[in-house]
Amino acid sequence: MKSIASAPGKIILFGEHFVVHGTKAILAAINKRVTVTSAFTDNNTIKVNSELGTLEVPISSLYEEAKGEFRPFVYLANKMINSNQNVNGLEITIDSDIPVGVGLGSSSACCVAAAGSIFGLFKEWSSEEILKISIEAEKTIFPDTSGADCTVCTYGGMIEYPSIEKIGNTFDLNLLITNSMIPHSTKNSVEKVNKFKENNEERFSQLCDLETKLIDEVITAMKDNDTTTFGLKMSENQKYLEEIQVSNDTLRSMIGSLKEVSLGSKITGAGDGGCVIALVRDENMDKVPTLLPKDKECFSAKIDTKGVEWKREK
Ligand code: MEV
Repeated sequence: MKSIASAPGKIILFGEHFVVHGTKAILAAINKRVTVTSAFTDNNTIKVNSELGTLEVPISSLYEEAKGEFRPFVYLANKMINSNQNVNGLEITIDSDIPVGVGLGSSSACCVAAAGSIFGLFKEWSSEEILKISIEAEKTIFPDTSGADCTVCTYGGMIEYPSIEKIGNTFDLNLLITNSMIPHSTKNSVEKVNKFKENNEERFSQLCDLETKLIDEVITAMKDNDTTTFGLKMSENQKYLEEIQVSNDTLRSMIGSLKEVSLGSKITGAGDGGCVIALVRDENMDKVPTLLPKDKECFSAKIDTKGVEWKREK
């Protein structure tokens, strides 16, 4: 028997980094997914196959002993194996169309899909349960996670975190994702922002208040079908991200290049590399490729309304 689960990647429209410090954030699941397939084996090992390589460790191994990117899988496998006798081994295979390490939720989607797939070998589960254990799994590589990414990967659609209620936006967001092709470490960027906060406590607290106000204004703009304000708020949010120093020359130059065709643009995710999102008018989409350097990838993001999905196969 195989247990197969899939989960979407994500973009953060507003509020990255500040969300780690307790503000709200607006996130959306995107139509790029990761699929995790799990099966029992008789090998007395936990085996993980992914595009990053293969790991095979004895069934009793601790997750702390595994290489970083494999830890969540060993953690989840152990959790189930320890509470179920008669398991001689597990094989976990990851297939993903989410680019890795560029802020599109590859790691969170993997944790959610792996939790769904591994737990699905043993029992039926609820989304609440999968969210809780996927955040535990993500913490094995990134202890400070806000949990926002795993939440949107579990429930899908667009949400105003910490609520899981879907935002039914009235206008079609033509969101362009541009990949700087510079990989980043979310953990390092979050630590950098923690240092900024330590050294600039008062300003950081003001920025959190400004972010909260901005998100309230975005929600109103969406209700009013006001794309212009939505775009302006993206650019305003980018100024806050610049101030906490998670931007760089490459990202600034990409944002600058998209200025003439977009209503607003900003980093999405941790920054320091990764991706930029821009709200582009329909009639301007054709112009985009000519504006960006050839080594950058770009594509239109469609919001994925489906969160984690799961099935068993013979
Ligand atoms: C990373 O996608 C988003 C951050 O806000 C970190 C987090 O929320 O855990 C930078």
